[in-house]
Amino acid sequence: MLVRCYRAKLSVWAALCVLVLCWFYIYPVYRLPRDKEIVEEVLRQGEVWQKNQTGIDLYRKLLTDCCDPRRMFAVTKENSPMGKVLWYDGEFYHSHTVNNETYSLFVQDNPLQLPLKKCAVVGNGGILRHSRCGQHIDQADFIMRCNLPPLSKEYVEDVGTKTHLVTANPSIIEKRFQNLLWSRKAFVDSMKVYGSSYIYMPAFSMKPGTDPSLRAYYALSDTSSNLTMLFANPEFLRTVGKFWKARGVHAKRLSTGLFLVSLALGLCEEVTAYGFWPFSVGLDEQPVSHHYYDNILPYKWFHAMPEEFVQLWHLHKSGTLHMRVGHCPPQDGGSS
Ligand SMILES: *[C@@H]1O[C@H](CO)[C@@H](O)[C@H](O)[C@H]1NC(C)=O
Ligand SMILES: *[C@@H]1O[C@H](CO)[C@@H](O)[C@H](O)[C@H]1NC(C)=O
Ligand SMILES: *[C@@H]1O[C@H](CO)[C@@H](O)[C@H](O)[C@H]1NC(C)=O
Repeated sequence: MLVRCYRAKLSVWAALCVLVLCWFYIYPVYRLPRDKEIVEEVLRQGEVWQKNQTGIDLYRKLLTDCCDPRRMFAVTKENSPMGKVLWYDGEFYHSHTVNNETYSLFVQDNPLQLPLKKCAVVGNGGILRHSRCGQHIDQADFIMRCNLPPLSKEYVEDVGTKTHLVTANPSIIEKRFQNLLWSRKAFVDSMKVYGSSYIYMPAFSMKPGTDPSLRAYYALSDTSSNLTMLFANPEFLRTVGKFWKARGVHAKRLSTGLFLVSLALGLCEEVTAYGFWPFSVGLDEQPVSHHYYDNILPYKWFHAMPEEFVQLWHLHKSGTLHMRVGHCPPQDGGSS
C-alpha cells in the first residue's frame, strides 16, 4: 500500500517536471524583443553599415571550427565513402548507409571555386517586393537562393535573374511535381531558370525526402541538364544547427535561409543578405507578404524566424554581413 502510494507520488512529480521542462522549452526564460521593437531598432540603425573585417574573419573561423563548411557542406565521395553511415539530421534514429547506388551520385569533392568573393544570399521575404534589388543581387559573384523561388519576368527587377546555388526541399518535389512519379518534364523545364547552378537538396535529413531527392537527381542527369545536384550533408546541417542553438536560436529546425547565410559566412569574403524579414509589417509600416511571390504562412512552431532575424541583425550591426531590408538605392549608370 505504502509502496503504491509512493509510486503514485513519484509519477505525479515526474509529470510535473516534464510539464515544467516543456514550458521552458516553449517559452524560454529570456524574452525576445517584440516585432515592433525590432522594427524600431532597424529604423534607428538606418542604412548605416560598415564592413568589419575582424568580424568576418572571426565568423569564418568559428564556422570552420564547428562545421567545416568547405569540406562538409555537401555529401561528397571524399567525406562519404562507401559504407559510411549518414545519420538523418531531421529524424530521431534513422540512417542511410552509403552503397553502390548512392555513392555513384555524389560529387567527388567540394566543387566550388574557393574562396568565393562577394556572395548574395536571397531569402524569399515579401520585403523584396518593389525593392528594386535585382541589379544589386545580380552583381554578386555567387548568388544563393532558397527553395526553388520563382524568377519570372515580373520579379526580375526586385530579385534579379542569376543563380549559382539554389536549395530545393524534397517536399516541393512532392507537392509541385507529383513526387516525379509521372512526368518529369515540368520539373526539368522549371529548373531551366536556374541556369547552370547547383541544386542543393537535403536528401538525408528526413526519411521521406530521400527518394524524391534521388528521383530529382535522375530527372536532371537523364536529361543532360546543366544543373549539378549537391546533396546537403546531414552532419553539416546538424553542426550548424548546434552552432546557432548555442547562440540562442531555439527552433526545432533552422530555416534554409540561416543555413545558407552560415554557409556563405564560411565560404565567402563578403556576404549580403536580401529578403530576410519575418515580420508582417515593413519599415514603412505597410503590410508585407510572407514571400515575395505569395502570402502562404508556414507551420508556426517549426522555425523561429524572429529569433533568427535577431541573430542576423547582430551580425549586420557588427559589420560581419550586410542585411538589405529596404529598397536598394538606384545604381550609377543604371541599366544603360
Ligand atoms: C567587429 O567585429 C568584432 C568581432 O565580432 C567585434 O568584437 C567588434 O566590436 C566589431 N567592430 C565594430 C566596429 O562593430
Ligand atoms: C558495385 O556495382 C558494380 C556494378 O554495378 C559491381 O561490379 C560491384 O561489385 C559493386 N560493388 C559492391 C561493393 O557491391
Ligand atoms: C546548357 O547550356 C548550354 C550553354 O550555355 C546551352 O546551349 C544549352 O541549351 C543548355 N542546356 C539545357 C538543357 O538547358
